Amino acid sequence: MRSDFGSTMIVAVATPVLLLVALTAGCSHPGPINQPPNGISDQIGDSQSAKAESITNKTSSAITEEARKEASDIFKDRCVTCHGEQGRGDGPGASNLMPKPMDFHNSNWQVSVSDADIAKAIVHGGSAVGLSSQMQPNLDLEDKPGVVAALVERVRELK
Ligand code: HEC
Repeated sequence: MRSDFGSTMIVAVATPVLLLVALTAGCSHPGPINQPPNGISDQIGDSQSAKAESITNKTSSAITEEARKEASDIFKDRCVTCHGEQGRGDGPGASNLMPKPMDFHNSNWQVSVSDADIAKAIVHGGSAVGLSSQMQPNLDLEDKPGVVAALVERVRELK
């Protein structure tokens, strides 16, 4: 009886431990959040993504000079602080950021991201595309698709 009790105890202790190990092993970590914005965007609200896509698709072919001018002013006023004059992620406001903004001249980054993702990040903030929430939303641009498209164009031109 005594030895039976002993082995029962071992099972009683071992089972939860094994379960825990199995659970931990099965839980694969999703990996660094700022890696592929494209993959991540699939998991985020499709409606937002559709909206951002319609923003870029509708207007990228016909960005007015007026929209370009407004985008250029907005870039200087709101974006350069963090992203830097040349979009290298080295603006004065970037020194305390973690993670730091990416270098827009990095061609690996350029090909990894769609225009729709860029538009979505600009309008709805970094967290909308799985990036840092320190990249804040610019909700006032939601009804200015032409300006958003011009900002996307600007980010693309920096490559
Ligand atoms: C407070 C600092 C800050 C400001 C201001 C800021 N950004 Fe960002 N931005 C970031 C950070 C931080 C990231 C993401 C870095 C990461 O998570 O890897 C980011 C990411 C981005 C991305 C990448 C989006 C993607 O899908 O990969 C774009 C494009 C961008 N910003 C454009 C802009 C534009 C345009 C403005 C101005 C309207 C702006 N940002 C203003 C900090 C800032």
